[in-house]
Amino acid sequence: MKRLPVKTALLLILILIFNALPISASAEAAQKLIALTFDDGPGKYTQELLDGLRERGVRVSFFVLGQNVKSYPETVRRAWEEGHQICCHTYHHYELTRLSDDDIRRELELTDAAIDEALGHDFDYWLRPPYGSHNKHVLSLTGVPCFYWSVDTRDWESLNSDAAYKEFMRAAKDGSIVLMHDIHKTTIPAALRAIDTLMADGYEFVTVSELLSRRGIEAEPGKIYFSAYPEERGTEPALIAPTISYERTPEGKKVVIEGDERAKIYYTTDGQLPEPGNCEEYEQPFYIDEDTEVKAVCVRSWNGGRSDVVSETVEFSRLGAMTLSIRDGRLVIGGLGGESRVREFGIALIAACVAGLGGAVFGVSRTVRRKKVASRK
Ligand code: NI
Repeated sequence: MKRLPVKTALLLILILIFNALPISASAEAAQKLIALTFDDGPGKYTQELLDGLRERGVRVSFFVLGQNVKSYPETVRRAWEEGHQICCHTYHHYELTRLSDDDIRRELELTDAAIDEALGHDFDYWLRPPYGSHNKHVLSLTGVPCFYWSVDTRDWESLNSDAAYKEFMRAAKDGSIVLMHDIHKTTIPAALRAIDTLMADGYEFVTVSELLSRRGIEAEPGKIYFSAYPEERGTEPALIAPTISYERTPEGKKVVIEGDERAKIYYTTDGQLPEPGNCEEYEQPFYIDEDTEVKAVCVRSWNGGRSDVVSETVEFSRLGAMTLSIRDGRLVIGGLGGESRVREFGIALIAACVAGLGGAVFGVSRTVRRKKVASRK
């Protein structure tokens, strides 16, 4: 075999080290954020939109109408399960500035109740007043952060995919809150096309909750937000999904979950998607004594502030396959009920075995030869 020249070998080592480094440079570059929002749904095209968003790993915010939630509860539930933020756009789409205080409260309460029922949870639902129409008094009655937009794609007016896409591309920039409507067929391809183009240009799509968090803005009830441009505050990195690892110990399989320090970790051990009421908050490693599917998620807010859910099947086996290896001149027997019980034997043991086996073989062969000699006689 031809030996590698020293320079080539060094170069190969450098390449290997470089490849093993985390790709932090590209992660830092992807700090341009857009919060894409969909009003007036859910509708019959929302599922198609959700398919496209899931394919792209993109999260958005849905400002839903209470009356439509009643017609499409599974769609709202799916959107929430897939990490989108569910927000309120009132029940009937009335202009809030023209309603009495009681009627405003009624619009919000009816919608909240409809979403709670669809999700099976009682979250806060941030508000976009219909037509964007608001004043100080209306905002003060809402009790939640409110949202306007900085980019109106006018998809509702043009009903033309190309036109909506072009308007999106013309106006959107880092920190934009973009307005679209998932009740129009033409909106779905326009939205997905804009997402593809902008993601290729380094943009990341986030919920309104994550947009504010990552721009260091604390969402305040009764305040209205139009955008969250970067300015001097900079941009926090995205929530990182947790990692699940495990090791064998005398007590059983020990499961360790590590996650983002800015969030809490929740997990399930029955294969269910972690959600309030069915999961545990992770505080310390735990042990399993049977095969277990562990699912974990980092949560800053259950509605619009979650990482991806990760899943790991941890196999419990009391006796793993026995392994033999030589480490630092010692014979190591592994796999007998866990690393902590690994027994190490000195090299003398191998020598003794080899010597004994060698002696036995030598003895046998001499006996055979003698017998052969004897039989010739
Ligand atoms: Ni609307």
